[in-house]
Amino acid sequence: MSAYQIEVAIPDRSYTIEIAPGLLTSTRVLDVLESLSKKSRICIVTHPILMNPYVLPLIEGLKERGLDPFVHVVPSGEHRKTLATVARMYDAFIEAKLDRKGLVVVIGGGVLGDAGGFAAASYLRGIRFVQIPTTLLAHVDSSVGGKTGVDLPQGKNLIGSFHQPSSVLIDPKTLQTLPIRELRAGLAEVIKYGIIYDNPFFVKVDALLPRILKRDMDALSEIIARSCEIKAEVVRQDETEQGLRAILNFGHTIGHALEAITNYRRYKHGEAIAIGMVVESRIGECIGQTPPETTQALIQTLQRAKLPVAFPSDVSVEQVLEAGQRDKKTLGGLLHFVLPLRIGEVNVRSDVPTSAIEMALQTFA
Ligand SMILES: NC(=O)c1ccc[n+]([C@@H]2O[C@H](COP(=O)([O-])OP(=O)(O)OC[C@H]3O[C@@H](n4cnc5c(N)ncnc54)[C@H](O)[C@@H]3O)[C@@H](O)[C@H]2O)c1
Repeated sequence: MSAYQIEVAIPDRSYTIEIAPGLLTSTRVLDVLESLSKKSRICIVTHPILMNPYVLPLIEGLKERGLDPFVHVVPSGEHRKTLATVARMYDAFIEAKLDRKGLVVVIGGGVLGDAGGFAAASYLRGIRFVQIPTTLLAHVDSSVGGKTGVDLPQGKNLIGSFHQPSSVLIDPKTLQTLPIRELRAGLAEVIKYGIIYDNPFFVKVDALLPRILKRDMDALSEIIARSCEIKAEVVRQDETEQGLRAILNFGHTIGHALEAITNYRRYKHGEAIAIGMVVESRIGECIGQTPPETTQALIQTLQRAKLPVAFPSDVSVEQVLEAGQRDKKTLGGLLHFVLPLRIGEVNVRSDVPTSAIEMALQTFA
């Protein structure tokens, strides 16, 4: 089976992403955690649903090596990506007796990775953490690059910090238990990488979709590895989003607004991004930069992945503009959009007139 290693080459804080089916049940994961813990205390942060298949076997292995991890279990859901959840993690870290050399190991999806990463970033002014992502979205996106944080009722990810993990350990076999809707949601971010950076990858993902949806491990490992490579390359060039990293936000200006307007409950994050990418591609068309064929190809691939592509009829332009104003990507009151030039290339625009947003949304009416 395919195994990959990708370096995230950030000066002083570089780390390796390891991808291999079966990694989580191999001695390799124990070797990495043992060497990073340096005999310090470990706190595993995870979800109840992941305890039996993944966390308990890992704890057994760690115990055999003389390590005795503390486990803090957090209920699932984007609506729980809050400061209250992080406060409970601090309590757990104290109970686990984590000191400055302590290690947090997050085993879960993007919600837990972001919240657990932020707890690690802020506890004792920052301790080390390891990401063991278990959703496709977390494999290809949220576990890599060091963005950590939580939502406020006013908007998504408004609180947070950059804190790079010490290691990212990806076992595509964890996707065998992931609900199909979550798998598809993760595919939205994979498709995004093709549009923003890599035309041949977009074509390849489209061709691999039947195997991906059947959870073929080689196909999954291949798309996870290429997605991580692209993200690692972008983050290496622009860790704190002063320029290039913003291209990763394709679909996110509209997507985040949709999530906030619908109280983080109607859509999975990836579903909101799928709709956001289509709307933003249409906005690109409306200002005359995105060829209509690009939007068409995007829609076809998203539909083949059975992702939503239509903007909901009960959400108004005013709501989108208002939610957009609270988005942290908004600078000086100007909404920023990442818009395709063609498949594989985008630019960031802060000069999109409201009329273009209205026109793009009307195309869904
Ligand atoms: N930090 C970043 O750079 C970044 C990038 C993209 C997205 N994100 C964030 O990621 C979050 C979305 O992450 P997500 O899509 O992984 O959602 P999620 O973390 O809510 O996980 C989805 C669901 O799947 C369950 N689950 C997780 N792994 C499972 C498994 N292997 N088997 C069965 N069930 C499993 C979880 O319990 C949860 O109910 C959003 O908050 C988004 O803002 C962050």
